Amino acid sequence: MIPLIIPFPGNEELAKKLSLTLSGELARVNFRHFPDGETYLRIDSPCQDRCGVIVAALDHPDEKVLRLIFLSETLRDLGIERLGLVAPYLAYMRQDRQFQEGEGVTSRYFGKIISRYFNWLVTVDPHLHRYPSLNEIYSIPSQVGHAAPIVSDWIRENIEDPLLIGPDTESAQWVSDVAGRSQIPFIVLEKIRRGDREVEVSVPNVERWKDHTPVLVDDIISTGHTMLKTIRHLKKAGMKSPVCIGIHGIFAESAFAALKAAGAQKILTCNTIAHVSNQIDVSEIVSDKIKNFLI
Ligand code: R5P
Repeated sequence: MIPLIIPFPGNEELAKKLSLTLSGELARVNFRHFPDGETYLRIDSPCQDRCGVIVAALDHPDEKVLRLIFLSETLRDLGIERLGLVAPYLAYMRQDRQFQEGEGVTSRYFGKIISRYFNWLVTVDPHLHRYPSLNEIYSIPSQVGHAAPIVSDWIRENIEDPLLIGPDTESAQWVSDVAGRSQIPFIVLEKIRRGDREVEVSVPNVERWKDHTPVLVDDIISTGHTMLKTIRHLKKAGMKSPVCIGIHGIFAESAFAALKAAGAQKILTCNTIAHVSNQIDVSEIVSDKIKNFLI
């Protein structure tokens, strides 16, 4: 049976690519808000006894999750047999422990909600820091795609004499993988986060790399402050204008404009979250993972 690929609003482009690589049918979905803000939704494609694949990047999750649940419930009511979630960006991965007394561990609660409404999950480079795998917080089977090979290819093809820079020890896993694949030198900095928008980054002895183009690589660009601080240090050290690469570009508030204004020569991301900076296509990586659930 041909799988039904269902785009959550804003994910139409990636869903279309996936429907082609998976030989699926792109579902016609009608979403709108009633004047009071409540959701109306209608699926105009046949669903009975089919496999469904919802494509929904989960940045800004609080605005999306109720609609995602309604979409899942509607598809089940219409007869979809197995329903998977492709969330190229998976939210709520960073609150992975109780940092202060009284806090909730939201990554666990989010995992419970998603696991209740879907049969399986596919994502790209989730922010696994203290959890060794998604199985710790998701009770459904999951498959994880990795962007390192395509990020590494992009750098090799587009940047002369790159120096990869990871802004903190958490980024070391991505940076060392990207660097290793193309034999690119890399350094990992130390970051201290003092608040949501306040970070300090140390950039030791970069001067010896002055002839190289700094390429900052991080899994997530959110407020952009991690990269902004790093750019300022590199400028002070007399380095060339850097290229900023995020696997997931959330660009909260005015982060994208701020990074440009700070002197980044290029800012680019993977298309895990639709944005003008998307230059690296994850659709093949994602569809390879989905295939494991469609057999
Ligand atoms: C954090 O651990 C992540 O790997 C990123 O470094 C972080 O999310 C970036 O956040 P921001 O852009 O707000 O500094």
